[in-house]
Amino acid sequence: MIQFKKVEKNIGGNSLFKCENIVLSDSGKIGIVGNNGSGKSTLMKMLAGLDDEYEGEIINNEWTIYVEQIHETSQESGGEQSKREINEAIILDPSVLILDEPTSNLDTKNINWLINRLKRKDGLTIIVSHDREFLKQTVDAVIEFDNQQIKKYNYDYETYLAVKQQEVEAQNNQYNAQQRETKKLKAEIQKRKERAAKLQHTTNIKSGASDAKARAFGGRIAGQEKRMNSKAKAIESRIENQEKVEQYKKAKPIKLISTDDANAARGTIFNIEHHLVKDLFEIDNLKLQFGEKVVLIGENKSGKTTFLKQIMNGDIETSERARMSYFAQNLKNLDEQKSIIENVMLTTKQDIQTARNILGALGFRRDAIDKQVEILSGGELVKASLAKVLLSDSNFLILDEPTNFLDIQAIIALEGFINNYEGAVIIVSHDQTFINNINVKKWEIERDKLR
Ligand SMILES: Nc1ncnc2c1ncn2[C@@H]1O[C@H](COP(=O)(O)OP(=O)(O)OP(=O)(O)O)[C@@H](O)[C@H]1O
Ligand SMILES: [Mg+2]
Repeated sequence: MIQFKKVEKNIGGNSLFKCENIVLSDSGKIGIVGNNGSGKSTLMKMLAGLDDEYEGEIINNEWTIYVEQIHETSQESGGEQSKREINEAIILDPSVLILDEPTSNLDTKNINWLINRLKRKDGLTIIVSHDREFLKQTVDAVIEFDNQQIKKYNYDYETYLAVKQQEVEAQNNQYNAQQRETKKLKAEIQKRKERAAKLQHTTNIKSGASDAKARAFGGRIAGQEKRMNSKAKAIESRIENQEKVEQYKKAKPIKLISTDDANAARGTIFNIEHHLVKDLFEIDNLKLQFGEKVVLIGENKSGKTTFLKQIMNGDIETSERARMSYFAQNLKNLDEQKSIIENVMLTTKQDIQTARNILGALGFRRDAIDKQVEILSGGELVKASLAKVLLSDSNFLILDEPTNFLDIQAIIALEGFINNYEGAVIIVSHDQTFINNINVKKWEIERDKLR
């Protein structure tokens, strides 16, 4: 059994998250969900005993294995490495297995392998994921990070989404009702105060005539005035004493606007005939035009990244007018010692406001852009690297699995960017929802051929 008691994590004097008291039993599949940078990996490290700097208490006496979030290294493809590490951990059969974004590098076939493998697995499995389809098929409870709060929902993923939506609606209805009520009460106060002031005025006039009648009248009015004022005070304190309902804070999506110049080049970028991509696959004939967008699909190890590298390094001849920009899984375009905004500004012709807009759309609001790259979360790293590519002076983007590790908001922002971009794009992706939402044609590597 695992227990979280009043757990709270602060970083640099700011609260990263507060956790309600949570108990986890010895079996089941728990999904961990929340935006990039909300603290999911941090909590997993705490649970695995790799981080003990926090308030409150975590009780976990179980044998725990934590398979960390991985980004591709140069040796193995991200997919291969992920599958190997996950498989090794499952075989060891610990009481608690924590998988941090296990599907990020896996192709559809391997994701299905994992889903089936997890179904047959005993013990407690805790899975951090942004992959909605995967979560739907695996977890029976959800731990959610939202607005610095961690909460557990004892439902499968789809039911959790429905319950969450109801909660948000209920909260906003309560909030709106309270706002209306407060407004009404305030108008009431105003009315009473005005009446009291009028009475005061009347008393002043009448008290000019100094006979007993007038004094009695004045006294009566003064009593009324007092009552009006105290009634107003009573209403005021009623407003103050009511329990304030907060409006549900939903980060507003900002549109990612493309930055390239309108007079994008026209014509052919490359025209490949009878080409072998190493011993991986063969291309009979393949043409890419300026402004054209394609998604490149193929299993893990089919050679997608190798092909993209051949385009980048000149093995495949491209037009002289092509200005290429490459997003790679290894995120090597970032200088760890610099901030996000410094990294981006190094390679862009855009002004700082445009850079801020793009970073904002991806989820870096206000001073978040000043964060050192060194301390970023897995998804934040991808966002910084991607923003640098999107802002570069180019008319041909090559994006190798850009949605891995991204939270849902950022994926939606990227969809909009690609649909508005006027240059050419080649994207590798296994994310079915993402592919469906962008306007692209398909190139597929199948049985050693690209078609
Ligand atoms: N030393 C530090 N100083 C300031 N902020 C830090 C430091 N170390 C980590 N952070 C921040 O803590 C936050 C939580 O990181 P964590 O890796 O737990 O996020 P996550 O929820 O796993 O995100 P992702 O979905 O991107 O993997 C990030 O915003 C990160 O930048
Ligand atoms: Mg993480």
